[in-house]
Formats: sequence, structure tokens, C-alpha cells
Amino acid sequence: MAKSLFVLLLLFLLLLNVDCKLATAIKTSPRPFKTHLTQKLSHLHFYYQEVVSGPKPTAIPVTKPLDNTTLFGMITVIDNRLTQGPSPNSTELGRAQGMHAGSAQGEAGLLMAMNLYFTEGKYNGSVLTILGRNPVMHPVREMPVVGGSGLFRFATGFALVKTYFFDSEKGDAVVEYNVTVMHY
Ligand SMILES: *[C@@H]1O[C@H](CO)[C@@H](O)[C@H](O)[C@H]1NC(C)=O
Ligand SMILES: *[C@@H]1O[C@H](CO)[C@@H](O)[C@H](O)[C@H]1NC(C)=O
Ligand SMILES: *[C@@H]1O[C@H](CO)[C@@H](O)[C@H](O)[C@H]1NC(C)=O
Ligand SMILES: *[C@@H]1O[C@H](CO)[C@@H](O)[C@H](O)[C@H]1NC(C)=O
Repeated sequence: MAKSLFVLLLLFLLLLNVDCKLATAIKTSPRPFKTHLTQKLSHLHFYYQEVVSGPKPTAIPVTKPLDNTTLFGMITVIDNRLTQGPSPNSTELGRAQGMHAGSAQGEAGLLMAMNLYFTEGKYNGSVLTILGRNPVMHPVREMPVVGGSGLFRFATGFALVKTYFFDSEKGDAVVEYNVTVMHY
């Protein structure tokens, strides 16, 4: 009788101990982010440099389009430079990495799926993810920002983009980006 009581007591203490350990583990586990989150609204302005021609292209079409005016069926993998100004020699702020695909048959309309990877200033290492429709012949296009990482955790927002320069022969383009993003 005394023996089984002792075993019960031991079991109880053991459980209590486990429970305590669990509670401290929950309390002291490092937080993945700040507890007092404050929402910020940021505006970013830069130029996207798509280089298809020449010895150092940053955009590689991997499939041929069915139609050269709509670009339907053309998938292009990109690692395009993002610069401060429109000149290709302007300071690099980051890269647009991902791809776009001609996915409209009525007009030139691209599905853009890319990460804007910033490499300058306070946003160095942070990423904004854009997934949207880009009817490239329209004067201004809007695409959603669907997420982000680093300083852009929880990002949501939109990009307004306008073609600054386009060479229809070579396919090279410079596009102005205004990104409005909410993040923490
Ligand atoms: C599209 O243009 C390329 C290069 O100018 C040409 O080689 C190709 O035949 C054209 N494709 C179609 C479907 O017209
Ligand atoms: C960029 O720099 C190169 C080399 O310095 C120069 O040849 C070129 O003209 C410059 N381009 C522009 C648009 O300023
Ligand atoms: C950006 O961050 C990387 C990695 O931490 C670092 O090597 C690089 O020097 C930084 N660049 C700038 C411009 O601060
Ligand atoms: C971006 O914002 C600037 C300043 O407000 C404006 O001059 C420019 O036209 C805008 N561009 C686009 C593509 O929205």
C-alpha cells in the first residue's frame, strides 16, 4: 500500500515537473518577431531594367511565343536589376528575380511572378513578392504585392508601373515602379 502510494506520488511529481518545464518553455521561447507591432506604410520608387539583348542579358525567354504581338506562351526567367534612376548605369537597389509569362490572347498581357530582392540601405536582404497581371501596352499597370520577408514581413500593397523605355526589336525595357506597401 505504502509502496503504491509512493509510486503515485512520484508519478504526480514527475508530471508536475514536465508541466512546469513546458510552461517555462512556452514563456521563455524566443519570439519570432516583436510583440508590439506597429504598421508602417512605405513608398518605394525605382526602375526595372529588363535586358534581353547583348552579351549580358538578365531576362531569358525560355519558350517561343505563339504570337509576337501578344507574346502568348512566352515564359521568360528574369534576374533584372532594380536601379535608382532610369539609366542602366544608375545605382543598383536590388533585383527582380522570378519570371513572367505571356498569358493573354487578346493583348500583350503578362503574368508577373517575382521577388523584388533589395540589396541597398535599410531594406538590404528584404524581399517583396509580386504576383499580378501586367498588360504591358497599357500606360499604367497595377500589380499586387502579396507578401514579403525581412523588414517586409506581413507585406501587402500594390505596384503602379509605367514603361519608361521599350525597344520592340530587342525586347529591352526600362519600367518605372512605384510600390506602396503596408508592413510591420
Ligand atoms: C516572331 O519573331 C521572331 C523574331 O523576329 C521570328 O523569328 C518568329 O518567326 C516570329 N514568330 C511568329 C509566330 O511570327
Ligand atoms: C553607362 O556606362 C558605360 C561605361 O561607363 C557608358 O559607355 C554608357 O554610355 C553609359 N550609359 C548611359 C546610359 O549613361
Ligand atoms: C547587404 O547585406 C549583405 C549581407 O549581410 C552584405 O554583405 C552587404 O555588404 C550589404 N550591402 C549593403 C550595401 O549594405
Ligand atoms: C510615381 O510617383 C511619382 C511621384 O509621385 C510620379 O511622378 C510618377 O508618375 C509615378 N509613376 C508611376 C508609374 O506611378
